[in-house]
Amino acid sequence: MTDTTNTRVAVLVGSLRADSLNRKLAEILRDEAPAGVTLDIVEGLDQIPFYNEDIDGANAPATAVALRERVQGADRVLAVTPEYNGTMPAVLNNAIDWLSRPYGAGAVVGKPFGVIGATPTPYGGKWAHGDTARSAGIAGAVVVEDVTVSQSALEVDVTTDADVRAKLLDALARLVDFTPEVSAA
Ligand SMILES: Cc1cc2nc3c(=O)[nH]c(=O)nc-3n(C[C@H](O)[C@H](O)[C@H](O)COP(=O)(O)O)c2cc1C
Repeated sequence: MTDTTNTRVAVLVGSLRADSLNRKLAEILRDEAPAGVTLDIVEGLDQIPFYNEDIDGANAPATAVALRERVQGADRVLAVTPEYNGTMPAVLNNAIDWLSRPYGAGAVVGKPFGVIGATPTPYGGKWAHGDTARSAGIAGAVVVEDVTVSQSALEVDVTTDADVRAKLLDALARLVDFTPEVSAA
């Protein structure tokens, strides 16, 4: 890993469930992140109103402003999410919508962005992860594709399995190590 001193990763968890597998995975990564890498799990995504241009602008809701500030202050963004009905949960979609505005200057613009997660199906939530990556990219984030892990939780306890943990920590390392290409002027 290259020098990761003081790399801050804002983490968006796509499940609100108290016993969420994905929240547990986010917490494991937070607790086991390499020295110098801080994972900041952004709480309160359910307190942010559905995105509406009428309430955005100078008087945007405080919860949305707080989300933007947390992500703006981060070096990387990591979504840790299950899949709902073949796509990302609405709470995560809503967060990305808020982070995408003002157009061209949203808090995710230019931020390296990764997505991982687990679901108890053979596919591990890959549609949700693909949609999250596409949405974040359209919002202006720099999606780091080889970070994506769609982990099946069907036959393994993803919160204790050593191979799963290693895979997720490796994904985190790839996100942290990612260096955006600087285009030649
Ligand atoms: C409304 C709803 C829709 C779901 N749709 C899918 C789906 O399309 N694909 C999938 O893999 N799992 C689906 N699931 C199952 C979730 O992946 C599973 O409940 C998962 O554990 C939720 O993540 P969490 O443990 O982090 O809360 C769905 C669950 C709910 C509640």
